[in-house]
Amino acid sequence: MMLRSMLFVPGDSEKKLAKGASCGADALILDLEDAVAASRRPVAREMTREYLKSADRSKGELWVRMNPIDSDDALKDLAAVVCARPDGIAIPKTESGADILRLSHYLDALEVEAGIPIGAVAIFAIATETAGAAFGLGTYKGVTPRLRAITWGAEDLSAALGASSNKGDDGQYTHPYVLARSLCLYAAHHAEVQAIDTVLPDFRDSAKLKKECEDARRDGYTGKICIHPDQVAVINAAFSPTEAELAQARAVIDAFAAQPDAGTLQLNGKMLDKPHLKQAERIMALVDQARR
Ligand code: COA
Ligand code: MG
Repeated sequence: MMLRSMLFVPGDSEKKLAKGASCGADALILDLEDAVAASRRPVAREMTREYLKSADRSKGELWVRMNPIDSDDALKDLAAVVCARPDGIAIPKTESGADILRLSHYLDALEVEAGIPIGAVAIFAIATETAGAAFGLGTYKGVTPRLRAITWGAEDLSAALGASSNKGDDGQYTHPYVLARSLCLYAAHHAEVQAIDTVLPDFRDSAKLKKECEDARRDGYTGKICIHPDQVAVINAAFSPTEAELAQARAVIDAFAAQPDAGTLQLNGKMLDKPHLKQAERIMALVDQARR
């Protein structure tokens, strides 16, 4: 199942947890990290676990963002929530596939303890948030089938780099963040998992959100994380194929089906070969979500 929109919900906010379910997001990420004050973490863990136990799972997937794997909070977070079977764990500030493997081992043990199948809980890596993270982006491939998606983060990265801003006067990300965005895209496709674009913090600016989604989708991202319910519909629409795209994809697939021995052929005066077929099949795989 592809995830277009993943909405962060602070794990200690009764009001936002209640509202999250009706937002239409493909997944909620119940946050135990940056959106929760350290003093509130014990409460957040309890609330998140109870929410997981009682929520209507047909409305979308439920993920939990843990604290960084090296922090004292990491095992407390996992021990509190894995027993309530989240669809997955979002892990922040990862630096390489080794962090994912370590998390996967923790999950193995907690799944056995909870009596749920080993491998049931997936992993989502937030993989560009530290100064060292960029150097590990080639190492996520083949670590564990639990890994479903990789995203990048610009806010923590700019804090890690001591930057006064991650955007220039034109409002666009400056070079270090554009690099992180591109490397994340390579990392995800290299690892054969979903590439998920980062958050737009200006949650009132829906035109900017639409543009960011379109740019991301054009480049090969298949979803976007977000922080406010109003962002969900824009993201879902932008990452769903349009009727025109579906019609074109069908035409490409039909053209190859009609000439099974052709490596390359033409459709309406344009050359088609293997990459076009692959892209068409990718579009068709998104159809289920488009109809939800
Ligand atoms: N999930 C669920 N509900 C949310 C929400 C979220 N992420 N963000 C806002 N809401 C709710 C509000 O509680 C409010 O509910 P109401 O209509 O019942 O009063 C409604 O949506 C409108 O919210 P609004 O008044 O526009 O914003 P706000 O000032 O309440 O919240 C933020 C703004 C940024 C604090 C909030 O969106 C938020 O907490 N986002 C998540 C932040 C986060 O998790 N960050 C970590 C990842 S980067
Ligand atoms: Mg953060």
